[in-house]
Amino acid sequence: MDSEFSPLASPAPQGRAQRREFLKRLAVVASSSALLADLPWWTPLRAEPVGNSPADRVRLGLIGAGTRGSFLLANLLQTPGVEIAALCDDYPPHLEAALAKVKGARGFSDHRQMLDMPDLDGVLIAVPLFLHAPICLDAFAAGKHVFCEKSLAYSIAECQAIADAHRGSGKVFQIGHQRMFSPVFLRALQLVRDGRIGPITQMRAYWHRNGNWRNPVPASGPDPSPFPSLERRLNWRLYLDYSRGLMTELASHHIQVANWFLDAHPVSCAGYGSINYWKDGREVYDNVNVVYRYANGTQVVYDSLISNRFYGMEVQIMGPEGTIEAETGKIFSENPPPAPGIVQLINGIEHGFFSAVPIGGPSWVPELKKDTKGSYLVQDQSTDDGTAISMAAFANSIRANKPIPGMMEQACRSGVSVLMGHNAMEQQQEIAWPEGFRE
Ligand SMILES: NC(=O)c1ccc[n+]([C@@H]2O[C@H](COP(=O)([O-])OP(=O)(O)OC[C@H]3O[C@@H](n4cnc5c(N)ncnc54)[C@H](O)[C@@H]3O)[C@@H](O)[C@H]2O)c1
Repeated sequence: MDSEFSPLASPAPQGRAQRREFLKRLAVVASSSALLADLPWWTPLRAEPVGNSPADRVRLGLIGAGTRGSFLLANLLQTPGVEIAALCDDYPPHLEAALAKVKGARGFSDHRQMLDMPDLDGVLIAVPLFLHAPICLDAFAAGKHVFCEKSLAYSIAECQAIADAHRGSGKVFQIGHQRMFSPVFLRALQLVRDGRIGPITQMRAYWHRNGNWRNPVPASGPDPSPFPSLERRLNWRLYLDYSRGLMTELASHHIQVANWFLDAHPVSCAGYGSINYWKDGREVYDNVNVVYRYANGTQVVYDSLISNRFYGMEVQIMGPEGTIEAETGKIFSENPPPAPGIVQLINGIEHGFFSAVPIGGPSWVPELKKDTKGSYLVQDQSTDDGTAISMAAFANSIRANKPIPGMMEQACRSGVSVLMGHNAMEQQQEIAWPEGFRE
């Protein structure tokens, strides 16, 4: 372990019974750190602890009860002061499964009817990408607070429309980029701001899986409309009418982290994508590579593929003094303290340096990945990925009726960046940040 980096004291006991304690501790972390004071979206977590009075209750509805919606629901059911008042899904099996989990919630197949409920404070939107903007706009028009899953929207014009509708609405808006609420990523940012790795000179992120990225499709089921088939309904992320593939579904998380850590949006990007393995009728690329260029000369290099999982997923933040691997939750010094002499000697013999290298000393050794173990950023490796905390933040900001500052900027920056990446690959040309975009 690189001794110069000490991990953040564990903020996160786990489990349902400890959730309240967990949130209280996070509130302490949030109020005690100079860095967190700079993160406006943490403001709601500094609010007073939630009581049991009806005035503290926040009534929420969920639109889209698929994979992610179900996970949000599980977290909301553990969030103090939250009442799940309504559930909406236009696919009956998903709606029925969700209703079975929440006593007393009203069920809807049309989100507009749900938005007519006068006593509903806010909604969470976890539908396919192409529906994010229309449903967000309906929700703002109905005067509701909105949590929208990532990525912000299907097109840059729709990102702008959501930002415009939100501006001046006085309503809370939150985006489903949970790393903004992750203790590990916050600790990483703190160390970066403290200069532990020097200035960020490059970021590299990747997300590799090995699988066809398909959901199983039953032989028959309810009428899939407005989708033309059950296959398209359940596997919407593979078709360009509904999704922008790996960029919006996976890359958006790490590009949000890049923009957040660099405190900027990219000025342009270029990239290539293709379908080189899963040639099964899908329309979205199964491997993508995009390089983003920032005004200060830093580049963010991103790639994703779904035909090899050896490297898994990571976001690497690099500077002249060190490297942070934020998904693993570790920091590595460029110059770790030297190992004791005897260990060095044994290492040298094991690696064959002494038989391969002339007596006068090595003139060159292979510049392979450094074999240092690094230090953990936080002690408790089982900490929440940020989703549970982000649910508490959404509820608290609605309760206080205070929109979360900075959130739409984060949503727009990552939402637009991944669409730039998609456009760069489709058009095979460099794509610039859209001039005049208002976050
Ligand atoms: N933050 C994260 O880590 C994370 C992880 C996974 C997915 N997501 C996001 O969540 C969203 C949903 O993804 P998913 O994996 O849950 O997809 P999914 O297909 O499992 O779920 C989507 C649900 O929306 C429902 N739906 C479709 N049209 C609807 C409509 N008009 N009204 C109401 N419901 C409708 C579908 O029936 C389905 O139940 C996507 O935007 C995705 O990018 C975020």
